[in-house]
Amino acid sequence: MKLAVIILAAGQGTRMRSRLPKVLHTLGGRPLLGHVLDTARALTPTGIYVVYGHGGAQVQAQLDAEDLQWVEQREQRGTGHAVRTALEALGEEDVALILYGDVPGIAPRTLQPLIDAATSGALALLVAEPEDPHGYGRIVRDSRDRVLSIVEEKDTDEIQRAIREVNTGLLAAPVARLRRWIVELNDDNAQGEYLLTDIVAAAVAEDTPVVTSRAPDLFEVAGVNDRVQLAALERQFQRHQAEALMRSGVSVADPERLDIRGSVEAGRDCFIDINVVLEGRVQLGADVTIEPNCVLRDVTLADGVTVRANSVLEGARVEANAVIGPFARLRPGADIGPTARVGNFVEVKQARLEEGAKVNHLSYIGDADVGAHANVGAGTITCNYDGVNKHRTTIGAGAFIGSGTNLVAPVTIGENATIGAGSTVTKPAPADELTVSRARQTTVRGWRRPD
Ligand code: UD1
Ligand code: MG
Repeated sequence: MKLAVIILAAGQGTRMRSRLPKVLHTLGGRPLLGHVLDTARALTPTGIYVVYGHGGAQVQAQLDAEDLQWVEQREQRGTGHAVRTALEALGEEDVALILYGDVPGIAPRTLQPLIDAATSGALALLVAEPEDPHGYGRIVRDSRDRVLSIVEEKDTDEIQRAIREVNTGLLAAPVARLRRWIVELNDDNAQGEYLLTDIVAAAVAEDTPVVTSRAPDLFEVAGVNDRVQLAALERQFQRHQAEALMRSGVSVADPERLDIRGSVEAGRDCFIDINVVLEGRVQLGADVTIEPNCVLRDVTLADGVTVRANSVLEGARVEANAVIGPFARLRPGADIGPTARVGNFVEVKQARLEEGAKVNHLSYIGDADVGAHANVGAGTITCNYDGVNKHRTTIGAGAFIGSGTNLVAPVTIGENATIGAGSTVTKPAPADELTVSRARQTTVRGWRRPD
């Protein structure tokens, strides 16, 4: 058996009221279609066929990959028509699995029973029982509980409307049979569309077994039609991620106030306080504390690191027991050594702070190497940019930089050098010496303000 996954994503998504195609709207920072592709790939199919319509170029620009086949459905004439468009490319012996690009929560293990049933010749439907079945196609069964057909909301009578068992739209079938049923579809229904759901009656008519499998969780089969539904789904998705993180040994102050838009790995006994956003790839060692209102994007924090409140870290690496913030900003290439400290209103970019180095207040450290246990005073600025090029500043181990110093790069401060407060340093400052560059203070005796 070969598995072909067909992902329907040609719908216009009018209710999103967006210039962005619906399947590019994000859940947990990843496009809806990206989630579906992850699930499809986890099933190791021989082909993944994405049926696209509106905004296809935009979708492909963002998500194209070697393992995808893009199939254009020029006019959206219904789900049956969409599947038919893709079927042409499939092999006669294949099993087809139909997914929706706007149903991002579906998990591979939920789909496996459908694939297994279709492999043995059946038409396999994923069904659900939501509180309110309105809007869904209803599963109509006979007195012996065998599926007879699916009736779309607009085509239901009063009795059918009361049925709570609904079609999620996701299904699997042998391609040879699916082809036979699909060519027989017509658009003689309330929507005037070719309805994929009409294949059920066709299967029943030729005695192909129709089996159903129940979705374990409504989240998995929830579709996105508008931004209200998307936000509701986002909350559920975030709740699941927070729970997974807590189960792995991380304490979360309030799972409703943690958002993960990417992947997080964490050691034991980390603590994440409220209003934290984790993006991209975040790796936390053991005993890491993240205080309230922090944003971390693509960062690695080693054991025992504390990120104090209101800090923003991006593309940074922090070694064991260092303390960052409160109100610190680490930009890409910030590389903070063990036990180092980056305090309030300090920005660090493309710079290495060696073990125990301190930059505690109101500073900019860019394109720099700060030696072990150096102490950079308040308001120190590395003047790294001459308007055209960036230059490096090197501060030796044990150096003491007085407050309000401008270090005009390229410049080197020797080991254990001391720089007097308020200096503008443009030439190398020798090791172990005091270097000061500022106008001498004078007092003009007897001077009077003008009247
Ligand atoms: C469909 C099912 C319904 C089910 C519901 C679950 C049919 C006829 N009905 O209804 O039984 O309860 O999903 O949400 O299948 N699409 C295309 N091309 C088209 C039409 C649709 O690619 O021409 C795609 C859409 O982008 C979407 C999916 O197919 O991802 C479903 O289409 P939608 O219009 O939402 O179907 P429903 O009417 O909701
Ligand atoms: Mg729908």
